[in-house]
Amino acid sequence: MRIAIDGPAGAGKSTVAKILAKKLGFTYLDTGAMYRAVTVLFLENNLSLADENGIKRLLENADIKIIPGDEGQKILLNERDVTDLIRTPQVSELVAKVSALPEVREYLTELQRKIIAKGNVVADGRDIGTVVMPEAEVKIFLTASAEERARRRHRELLARGYEVSYEEVFREVLKRDELDTTREISPLRKAEDAILVDTTGLKIEEVVAKLLEIIGRKQ
Ligand code: C5P
Repeated sequence: MRIAIDGPAGAGKSTVAKILAKKLGFTYLDTGAMYRAVTVLFLENNLSLADENGIKRLLENADIKIIPGDEGQKILLNERDVTDLIRTPQVSELVAKVSALPEVREYLTELQRKIIAKGNVVADGRDIGTVVMPEAEVKIFLTASAEERARRRHRELLARGYEVSYEEVFREVLKRDELDTTREISPLRKAEDAILVDTTGLKIEEVVAKLLEIIGRKQ
């Protein structure tokens, strides 16, 4: 069974996708982490978004691996553990621009499809139900109000030691929503056959219960 979970930043996708995958014994595929890993490469190589040849070379030499584990998944970039590095504010700021590049989307979509082909999977992202696996048996579009999503991100960043204000995070969430929904290739949108779940005011357990009920109906 393939489960696709799409939605905007801060809707709770990765938190619930991780729990679902564990409960079901499925592979969890965090596609946002892959876009973030490529963004780390852009930053470290000081690569311009307009440098087509540079981007091609960068992707040819990139090796991104997702290693599942009990403590959560690890992201390896050219054999280096970048699990924490991909969550820095600098990466969050640039990632929506990097992920709008056709070369990057093509490269990562292919990589994601290879992982998905191995079997039972819960994948989360922006274009999973629409582009990466439109044939998924279960499609969820997870959302929440922009204020609540910013509150969640803000709490998360503070917990990790970043001193950012709520207003800054709120602005970043709105900016990323805009870039993700208006880009030309694979914009964020609900697949026609996806089920909309609004998580505003819901606890994680409540969201998980709702999704398990939806999955149960499809079995
Ligand atoms: O899910 P996360 O917030 O980590 O994703 C980071 C960014 O990666 C998103 O804002 C979006 O620009 C991009 N992304 C994407 N397609 C996906 C997953 C993520 O464009 N399937």
